[in-house]
Amino acid sequence: MSTTVPIRLSVNGKPHELDVEPRLLLVHLLRDRLGLTGTHVGCDTSNCGACTVHLDGEAVKSCTVLAVQADEAEVTTIEGLAAGDDGLHPLQEAFWEDHALQCGYCTPGMIMAAADLLARNPDPTEEEIRLGLEGNLCRCTGYHNIVAAVRDAAAEMRGASAAAKTPEVV
Ligand code: FES
Ligand code: FES
Repeated sequence: MSTTVPIRLSVNGKPHELDVEPRLLLVHLLRDRLGLTGTHVGCDTSNCGACTVHLDGEAVKSCTVLAVQADEAEVTTIEGLAAGDDGLHPLQEAFWEDHALQCGYCTPGMIMAAADLLARNPDPTEEEIRLGLEGNLCRCTGYHNIVAAVRDAAAEMRGASAAAKTPEVV
């Protein structure tokens, strides 16, 4: 007989109350219980980063986090990254524009890790991007276009925040 534990968490802004087995991994909660299959499983050994989500605003590999550790936390997945219904997050746009994916398996995790990086460092150098994404593996692209996409998204996001801060001249 397996015991379950009640947890409450918010996923992409939506509250959930669930009973989970203590051994259940966050990635399986997201994929199998909540149907958020944009978070991928690439290795189960915490190497690939395909399972990266944000837990209380920080990127984590959700295959290394137990669902019970997300009790009372806020989780964001690739499905919830773009705010509102009006399109793509600048990182998603830049990955599209710069051809920063081929099979796409690594892409959700790569974008979630990049979003965390840009939240901490809005203007990273190429080297800082490569270091920041070293926990995310891509077997297709050779990384060049991924780095370019992160730089382009960073510029776009800095432009947007500068525009938001500039008072309108009338
Ligand atoms: S599935 Fe989590 S790091 Fe690979
Ligand atoms: S695009 Fe295929 S693993 Fe990255």
